[in-house]
Amino acid sequence: MFQDESFMKKYAPYYIKGTGYTIFLAVIGVLCGSVLGTLLALMKLSKNKLFKGIAVVYIEYVRGTPLLVQIFLVFFGLNVIGVNLSALASSCVALSLNSGAYVAEIIRAGLNAVDKGQAEAARSLGMSQKKAMQYIIMPQAIKNILPALGNEFVTVIKESSVVSVIGVSELMFQAGVVRGASFKPFLPILIASFIYFILTFTLSRALGVAERRIGAND
Ligand code: ARG
Repeated sequence: MFQDESFMKKYAPYYIKGTGYTIFLAVIGVLCGSVLGTLLALMKLSKNKLFKGIAVVYIEYVRGTPLLVQIFLVFFGLNVIGVNLSALASSCVALSLNSGAYVAEIIRAGLNAVDKGQAEAARSLGMSQKKAMQYIIMPQAIKNILPALGNEFVTVIKESSVVSVIGVSELMFQAGVVRGASFKPFLPILIASFIYFILTFTLSRALGVAERRIGAND
């Protein structure tokens, strides 16, 4: 299968470019998703019914519809309202909007996992709600949130393959190009799968180490 040495030489640049795009999409998706997710989580936990309602509807809707559909919605929807974004920019938006909903739940769960007594103790020491959140709740919640955020990163690396449907030249798209150019149906996809695996496996190993470090600080 790999005897064709020139295959790798010829097509390596496609995979390198694709991997670059895949990493870029995942990083943007998780970063923007985290900002949006934090906001949504705070909205969902707030006492304001309107904020809470908006967050609940958004999170449920995004988690209840396929990413594939959301990508089309963003790509063509923006066009309909007269905003012309490139496929790459639309993909960044769609991945961020999608990830935001999942991150919101991660953050909400992380905050809820901190014992209620912690907030009560902080409040009884005279801290304001905001200070208690900032100095007592958040630092403890981070320990639950960070590992889950790492997993979200792994998920988004894999899920970013879906944006190949609107022609973003990430890894899966490039594998398709190589398939067409080489007339080989299987090998290009197999190589893409190896690259995805290397990315996600390395990342989850690194996360495991980081998690143990955080745990050791307890
Ligand atoms: N594949 C699923 C979907 O299409 C899961 C998406 C998961 N996304 C995430 N950011 N964790 O909806």
